[in-house]
Amino acid sequence: MATCKGLIDMIDWNRVRDDFPALKRKINGRPVVYLDSACMALKPRQVINAMNEYYELYPACGGRSIHKFGEEASNAYSKAREKFARFLNASRPEECIWTRNATESLNIVASSVKIPAGSKIITTSLEHHSGSLPFVERAKRDGLKIEVIKAQSDGTFDIEDWKNAVDNTTRLVSVVHSSNVTGTVVPMKEIVEIAHDHGALVMSDDAQYAPHHPLDVQDFDVDFSAISVHKMCGPSGMGVLYGKFEHLESMNMCLYGGDTVSDVRFENGKILPEYLPPPEKFEAGLQNYAGAIGAGAAADYLQSLGMHAIETHERTLLNVALKRLLENDHVKILGTTDINIKTGLVTFTVDTVPSAHDVATFLNDEFNVMVRSGWHCVGPFHYQMGIDPKKGTVRASFYLYNNMDDVQVFLTALETLIGASS
Ligand code: ALA
Repeated sequence: MATCKGLIDMIDWNRVRDDFPALKRKINGRPVVYLDSACMALKPRQVINAMNEYYELYPACGGRSIHKFGEEASNAYSKAREKFARFLNASRPEECIWTRNATESLNIVASSVKIPAGSKIITTSLEHHSGSLPFVERAKRDGLKIEVIKAQSDGTFDIEDWKNAVDNTTRLVSVVHSSNVTGTVVPMKEIVEIAHDHGALVMSDDAQYAPHHPLDVQDFDVDFSAISVHKMCGPSGMGVLYGKFEHLESMNMCLYGGDTVSDVRFENGKILPEYLPPPEKFEAGLQNYAGAIGAGAAADYLQSLGMHAIETHERTLLNVALKRLLENDHVKILGTTDINIKTGLVTFTVDTVPSAHDVATFLNDEFNVMVRSGWHCVGPFHYQMGIDPKKGTVRASFYLYNNMDDVQVFLTALETLIGASS
């Protein structure tokens, strides 16, 4: 029988590239090197076909119309939820709520979890703005305390600080599982255990973790998880909020309207609604059926390759990139370079070209290497590290469809720029 490593080695990653039509493009006669998957992943034809099928064959509304198209749309919509629940190992499909993006998932939790007066919320300086601001604003709204744990300068998580911060008044914590700026993976199980010992609920921002690592929400025992479907080969404008069913049940609703109710009576001049349980409670109005179907197809696609295999493949590429970047005195890497606690991305500054946008523009214009530049929606950590957010940092992120040629073109492009600007 083939070992796990054997199976991983058997995947032909270059054949996987054939699934992605965007990689077949040539710009100015050269292939594209797409290294911006931490922002938006490319889409395989399996996902595109599943969505096209909906639009071409049964483009109707789910959950309402009893005609054939409506029935097919409803079935595909709930099947997609089952697929996603399987991907996350949620204990039931109803624990997966479709949202527009991870930001919306984080906002729903921040605004709708019931928190008693006098309680504390905790977050960290490494959070994406979507993982911190909704919680900052909730604390402001209800006069709650909020404590921000400072990430260590290499972006790693200080569990001792965490132990000191979490107390019996802490009710909700928001922690990024894998940072979109340093790629650092936090010790989520330990974080959850400490939070739970004090009765606090854990919101895990899995926008960067879920596309690149095996994520078993029951194993991590997180209370909520925010997923960005467009970062995991799914359609844009789709996210998932995972929540333990009892928490979703006890939360306030945030949108009211069609399909959230089991009954709405009119008695004595009053309108009296009876609301449905999750997931309908959080999915008011007509939904993005094509998006959900595409999300289910993306979950299936990633599972068919295996999340361990994807993680290993990305780390192999990252390892080569990191080694060469570390040898270059003009490149300063932001965050840890320990690939065992890192998602497949590297963020850096170049001292000969202080503006990150100038670096990204050169790579794009001269070599078709697409990276992201800026502050990556993580202002606090840039300020903490003394990096002018206007100059920003450059981020190259790898995914399952990247190969060693991509890494080499990226490194050559960067070295060419540094050579010309030194
Ligand atoms: N959060 C996305 C990124 O890191 C937009 O690029």
